[in-house]
Amino acid sequence: GAPVEVDIAGLGPGEMKTVEWRGKPVWILKRSPEMVASLKKTDNAVADPKSERNPDELTPEYARNEYRSRKPDVLVAVGICSHLGCSPSSKFQPGPQPSLPDDWAGGFLCPCHGSTFDLAGRVFKNKPAPDNLQVPRYMYLGDNKLLIG
Ligand code: FES
Repeated sequence: GAPVEVDIAGLGPGEMKTVEWRGKPVWILKRSPEMVASLKKTDNAVADPKSERNPDELTPEYARNEYRSRKPDVLVAVGICSHLGCSPSSKFQPGPQPSLPDDWAGGFLCPCHGSTFDLAGRVFKNKPAPDNLQVPRYMYLGDNKLLIG
């Protein structure tokens, strides 16, 4: 699959877009300052807070930080659940919203077996999904231009 160029200039805080790369959905979420701050709160609730599991496949070196990203405010992640491959939903997508657990601060919910992920794609503890969402290879070509792949 060829790398995919994405212009994120139009993405406001709290907005997400999905692009296709190698037949997979790749999410680009522009995190608001509150969303970035929320990652500290989910640190204790996620199974692999520092992305130490299977890092070669799941988390490139530049994303092995508390944000799992090159820039704190921009998450880039493959939107495929690490359990059996469904695509999680989020409250950032248009269309019908999943019903969310009351105690859940927000993030992504897999409709198949209920795995939940925080706003860095980190899986919450005691969920069927074993791993965090994959962060693909990507780089910035400019302030608002990404190259995925
Ligand atoms: Fe996502 Fe099973 S495929 S929880």
